[in-house]
Amino acid sequence: MYEHTKVILSLLLLPPVSCTISLKGLQGQLTSLDYPQGYANDLQQSWEIEVPRGYGIKLSFTHIDIEPSPDCAYDHVQIFCDEILHPLICGSNSREGKQFQFPQEYYTTGKWMRVTFVSDFSNEERYTGFAAYYTAVDINECEEEDPCSHYCNNYIGGFHCSCRPGYFLQENQRTCGVNCSGEVLTSFKGVITSPNYPKPYAENSQCQYRIQIEQGFEVILEFAEDFDVEGDPSIGCTSDVLKVTSGAKKYGPFCGDQAPVVKGHLSNVVEITFDTDGHGQKKGWKIIYRSTAKQCSTDILEHSIIQPKKVEYDYKDSVQLHCESGFELYDIQRSEHISSALVHCQKDGSWNSNLYICMPVDCGPPTKLMNGHENFISTVYTSQNQYSCEEPYYKLEGNAVFNCSEEAEWIDATSGQLTLPKCKPVCGNCLLSSKTGRIFGGQQAKPGYFPWQLRLVTTRGEMGGGALISDRWVLTAAHLFDNSLQVEIHGGLVDLRRRSPEGELPMELAIIHPSYRKQVEDGQPNFNHDIALIKLREKVKLRSNLAPVCLPGPGGASLPDDGTLGYISGWGRMEKRKLAVILQYAEVPIVSMDECKNSNYDGPKPVFTPNMICAGLPGVDSCQGDSGGPYVFIDLQNPSRHVVRGIVSFGPQECGNYGVYTHVGNYVDWIETTMKEHEDRETDLEVI
Ligand code: ARG
Repeated sequence: MYEHTKVILSLLLLPPVSCTISLKGLQGQLTSLDYPQGYANDLQQSWEIEVPRGYGIKLSFTHIDIEPSPDCAYDHVQIFCDEILHPLICGSNSREGKQFQFPQEYYTTGKWMRVTFVSDFSNEERYTGFAAYYTAVDINECEEEDPCSHYCNNYIGGFHCSCRPGYFLQENQRTCGVNCSGEVLTSFKGVITSPNYPKPYAENSQCQYRIQIEQGFEVILEFAEDFDVEGDPSIGCTSDVLKVTSGAKKYGPFCGDQAPVVKGHLSNVVEITFDTDGHGQKKGWKIIYRSTAKQCSTDILEHSIIQPKKVEYDYKDSVQLHCESGFELYDIQRSEHISSALVHCQKDGSWNSNLYICMPVDCGPPTKLMNGHENFISTVYTSQNQYSCEEPYYKLEGNAVFNCSEEAEWIDATSGQLTLPKCKPVCGNCLLSSKTGRIFGGQQAKPGYFPWQLRLVTTRGEMGGGALISDRWVLTAAHLFDNSLQVEIHGGLVDLRRRSPEGELPMELAIIHPSYRKQVEDGQPNFNHDIALIKLREKVKLRSNLAPVCLPGPGGASLPDDGTLGYISGWGRMEKRKLAVILQYAEVPIVSMDECKNSNYDGPKPVFTPNMICAGLPGVDSCQGDSGGPYVFIDLQNPSRHVVRGIVSFGPQECGNYGVYTHVGNYVDWIETTMKEHEDRETDLEVI
């Protein structure tokens, strides 16, 4: 009830008297108002004491007599210093029998203190108040906080740090470090260690070392002996840190107890920094460095060979430069090929070789193939050329792929030989699909049906036919040459009113079978061995209506069975005794020789030999003007090929039944050896 009244009353009364006294001297006194007469109600007094830097404050109460209350809630003194609000003080240290439980002396470490005194609206009796004095007291900073890394010296009002011998006080005036910077090493080899190595290195130090040697040389660093730097490399060296920098190359941070390895050659300038923190006792490190002349690389020039061969080349070394096989050394400045060059390793580690290049050898364009094509992108070493032939008239014989060799020659990719492939004529191909028709009783051919068919006219105007059997040889009948050794030959023709693009195919020589005798002997016609070869002066260019027919292969002497059909073709006489203008052809079967023997001949019966084939049908026959022309058969092994088995030879004057054909199969050996005998050496080279 009493307390309650007090609260209400205090609300009704004026606010308490309040004032602040500021005290600045090294000492002073403070007392409650009207001390020692007794303090008034509703007081609020405060003192702010401030002493110079480096001092603390000691406050001693000489007298305290303040109305006691639970927790000193009514009247009290309170001290605030060093950020601490001390407990409220009340009661008396001077009245007998009263226990006083508060300290009578207060100390600060800071230079500032505030004392407040508060009295409430009533006092039950008179209290004299308090008296206190303060003095500035020296703070022993050295004891309080140990601010120096080495020695701490306290003096009144402050402290001073000092260092062990060899150390100097750093700018912060607290820590000691060593003088470990500014050293520049310029000799070609040397040693750098952490300060005091192998004794523990100094703390709080930033050391900088520099190696700076002559340009053109390179520094090689090596850690020697013990390596012992505080910190853990796995977490990035957070305590003490050693770093090596050389140009763009950076090594470290290094720490821990494993000596790091600085691989390779550093430039001629190397910076080493070593920063240590404030604690730790580690041995440090030792670096031995040496230097070498700047090295030149071992690959000087692409595709080059260098002599002498070394693992490394130093400044002033020189080597002889050649090129790998397939390449030639080229002097760019003089624009000429040279066999070798002497080059030097220069001060900057480069070779003076940029005046040279190893150029691949050039095979030049590959030899042209007659009736073929070359296919290549480049002609330098390792390039490839692929030959092909003009199909379907020519086929490649030999290897198609050639490579440009080291010797600047195109060589066969599989055999390594120089021999070129050849484009060989393809025989027996024609546009004729089996069409039955009947020269005498025949039908008109179309271009490409009989591309081997040639027209022969002797100087005496006799008409005949022939067959192209290669791009240079013609097969015909011997009897065409009975009266003249010269013939005019035309190929690529169907309609005689038109001209062929080839014009005349001039003959070089005619070879009549050596056993052929002029047809009339004892009045009896003898056409035995009615076969001749003509060599053309030049090879013909094969095309759709000018291509060879095939010769019978091995075993060609044996004929297909009687009844087998073959084609005869020519511009000879037709049914109405007129010569044909458009090439005629017909299909006739092989028949028994008896049919020919039994035919009606105007004069004496001709001679029949096994070198002859009898063929024909009533109404379908060859006739005058067809002589020398081919009688061809489809090759059963390869039905797109046509083989010449007969040559129009003779028959009854009255055409239209059976005719006699030279049995070509009996002469294949003679044909081949004759052609070989007369083969041109120089055309073998196939140079255009
Ligand atoms: N000897 C004739 C000529 O020179 C060929 C006669 C072919 N006769 C025949 N009936 N098949 O043209």
